[in-house]
Amino acid sequence: MNVRVRALEEPDIEETIRVMKEAWTDSYESLESDYYPREAHEFDMGLNTAERYTASMEYEYGFFFIAEADGRIAGSIRGEIIGKSGFAMIRNIAVHPDFHRNGIGQALMEHTLEYLKAKGCHKVSLNTMPVLLPAIGLYLKLGFVPEAYLAKQWWGVDFICMSKWFEKKTNSA
Ligand SMILES: CC(C)(COP(=O)(O)OP(=O)(O)OC[C@H]1O[C@@H](n2cnc3c(N)ncnc32)[C@H](O)[C@@H]1OP(=O)(O)O)[C@@H](O)C(=O)NCCC(=O)NCCS
Repeated sequence: MNVRVRALEEPDIEETIRVMKEAWTDSYESLESDYYPREAHEFDMGLNTAERYTASMEYEYGFFFIAEADGRIAGSIRGEIIGKSGFAMIRNIAVHPDFHRNGIGQALMEHTLEYLKAKGCHKVSLNTMPVLLPAIGLYLKLGFVPEAYLAKQWWGVDFICMSKWFEKKTNSA
């Protein structure tokens, strides 16, 4: 499978929304339904609009990448650098279930980590739920560590903040 990660562009938006909604609905039904309120899931799904994708694509401190597998949109990742602080947050990553376990989630994450390093970031964090074991496995594999337990956070549900720090470049001789 030929996997390519690139920035989201306007003509990709409609298909990316479809892929993300199907990916998150599959995740909800298979992993989250006993943990995350259905109302919360439905609210989150409602945020997948062309207006929001466009805004996030155009935000000067934002990033929004998609993965194409053999030319088909298979997943996406988006987030932002908090101004000029060097601290970044990954807000969302998902891969469509038809493409799971083909290295696409890892490719999206690695592309983002390289992008953030090139932007001079020193730290990246994300918030995840304890039931999202595939995601936690992916983050641990890439060197993220659990940094904080967020008790009764969004919708009164516990989350885990996971983070990775980038090594500073040194000018050693
Ligand atoms: C998490 C997710 C993005 C992984 O995407 P993917 O393309 O299937 O993952 P990859 O094939 O790149 O796997 C990379 C690593 O992730 C981990 N991983 C992926 N799926 C896993 C699973 N089902 N169980 C355990 N670890 C898993 C493994 O460490 C894997 O490395 P390995 O193949 O050497 O074992 C995907 O499962 C997904 O979209 N989940 C639903 C949405 C979600 O949970 N998003 C994160 C919100 S915080």
